[in-house]
Amino acid sequence: MQITSFKQYEEDYKKSVENPEQFWGEVAQNFQWRKPWFKVLSWNFNEPNIKWFEGAKLNITENCLDRHLATNGDKPAIVWEPNNPEEESVTYTYKMLHERVCRFANVLKRNGAKKGDRICIYMPMVPELAIAVLACARIGAVHSVIFGGFSAKSIADRINDSQCKVVITADGSYRGNKQIPLKDVIDDALIGCPTVEKCIVLTHIRTPVSMLKGRDVWWEDEVKHVNDICEAEEMDAEDMLFILYTSGSTGKPKGVVHTCGGYMVYAGYTFSNVFNYQPGEVYFCTADIGWITGHSYIVYGPLSQGATSVLFEGIPTYPTPSRFWDIVEKHKVNTLYTAPTAIRSLMSYGEDPLNGKDLSSIRVLGSVGEPINEEAWHWFDEKIGHGKAPIVDTWWQTETGGIMISPIATVTPTKPSFATLPLPGIQPILVDENGNEIEGNGVMGNLCIKFPWPGMLRTTYGDHERCKQTYFSTYENLYFTGDGCLRDEDGYYRITGRVDDVLNVSGHRIGTAEVENAINMHAGVVESAVVGYPHDVKGQGIYAFVIYPEMHGEAELSKKDILQTVTRVIGAIAKPDKILFVSGLPKTRSGKIMRRILRKIAEGDTTNLGDTSTLLDPGVVEEIIAAAKKL
Ligand code: WT7
Repeated sequence: MQITSFKQYEEDYKKSVENPEQFWGEVAQNFQWRKPWFKVLSWNFNEPNIKWFEGAKLNITENCLDRHLATNGDKPAIVWEPNNPEEESVTYTYKMLHERVCRFANVLKRNGAKKGDRICIYMPMVPELAIAVLACARIGAVHSVIFGGFSAKSIADRINDSQCKVVITADGSYRGNKQIPLKDVIDDALIGCPTVEKCIVLTHIRTPVSMLKGRDVWWEDEVKHVNDICEAEEMDAEDMLFILYTSGSTGKPKGVVHTCGGYMVYAGYTFSNVFNYQPGEVYFCTADIGWITGHSYIVYGPLSQGATSVLFEGIPTYPTPSRFWDIVEKHKVNTLYTAPTAIRSLMSYGEDPLNGKDLSSIRVLGSVGEPINEEAWHWFDEKIGHGKAPIVDTWWQTETGGIMISPIATVTPTKPSFATLPLPGIQPILVDENGNEIEGNGVMGNLCIKFPWPGMLRTTYGDHERCKQTYFSTYENLYFTGDGCLRDEDGYYRITGRVDDVLNVSGHRIGTAEVENAINMHAGVVESAVVGYPHDVKGQGIYAFVIYPEMHGEAELSKKDILQTVTRVIGAIAKPDKILFVSGLPKTRSGKIMRRILRKIAEGDTTNLGDTSTLLDPGVVEEIIAAAKKL
């Protein structure tokens, strides 16, 4: 399954396009199935209706755990590095992880969870988070992990959208020197969540929590009441594995649905190849399991391949900006997979944090989540990889389940700020506004995918029409990614950023409409418009133009009040970096906000605003420009 030469990449790619069913059927043989498929693929992008490995039966945890026990049971599966470096790190071998997962799966059953039930997980980056995820998969329950930075309201919306029956959380989490009271946030959320029957609470930071009789139980107590034998539930390849909520151009995040068989094959295949993972190596992905990167490349991908995956609770700058390098040295990390925003942030501390750190174990570097600028690429290459570790710039999305366009470490070439070539099985095409294919090299367009791959989303939870509208209706017979893309003279792909109203702030995906809705909930705010602007560390910053005629108190305090509302409604990750109070917004005669103009102003480039003659009130633009200069 592992590609070892450029020639093989070319051959595999060709085969995957000419005979996709044979190609993926062969890849899938590397996994353990209870029953084989009768058809590798049936599909149409119109409904859409996509089925991979139809008729096959499996349980993904048998692939991630059981199948490694005989030969690799004592090999480390998860190495946990706590927030506080003074605390001991903890290693779970495959045998230990299997035991913990089975035991917690029995806890879930004991609390009424069964196949098909939705379970919300809101936890810190501790091994129990991976255990909870795998325990859900073990019993066939559908996990919906919510990133620890989301607010009670965001959690409640997500829980209600998928009618979760059980919530798994912890008393709190550590982030650097901060403590976050997770159970308190859950308590606020659950006031409005009638479907939740049980809440299982892990003790982690030992902060006092309220425990509601009949609903709330302690993780540590529950595991004492069960044994560690839990046969895996037999799942159909197309049964739901998980839901993961992600933002789009509307105000409401959607629940992206991934299924068992195809997702497993795709996460495992891409992990093994892109990182060129070798048995015995230590792999460290710095993402949070609350995002798709953590699902696919901390938990399912690495574990399906019997790898050793480092799970880090903390942040790159705590207690010092040397933390990543300390972890690399301590655990002899061979592969480091991180985000451009983290690289840029660490770059800003200069080279002192690197002094005396032994990074010689590093063999492969990876980047994910947003375009990586050349400066960050070269710093990563020279200072961290010492020019010897290939950088895989991996382009993909929550919806794609796994990496789509990326170098294959040690096999295919890299190029600064380019995701380079599609992986076998991936057929990208560039289209113009009208959906016409843009052929040849040295061209730009909107990035679409024209053929299914096993890891792709199947639907958006509870609203299939929305899935169709969002991804399959912009261009007929194509999956639309929402990204703009350049294909250079060599045929290499470079993702240039979103072409829809979606922002990428520090690798976090946030819809402008979502932020606007949150700002508009603030008392006295009449209207707002949110756009992104280039930010040195975050990639994109959030710029909000707000009409707030009867401002309460002085302007600076009012801005903080609005930030507080955004934190309540979405979470701190969606707080605007800049707020500008304006008396009006540039609108067309039909009432549409002209974001193009606001984007230019936010970028500080007002030399060429384009045609403003169609504006209802062109004067408002001058006023906004003048105010923006003073901000
Ligand atoms: C969006 C998807 C994929 C896991 C993390 C983010 C942007 C992602 C790259 C990259 C340029 C990238 C795209 C994409 N993006 N990776 N290597 N180069 N842009 O997942 O939250 O679903 O966001 O992130 O704009 O559409 P996500």
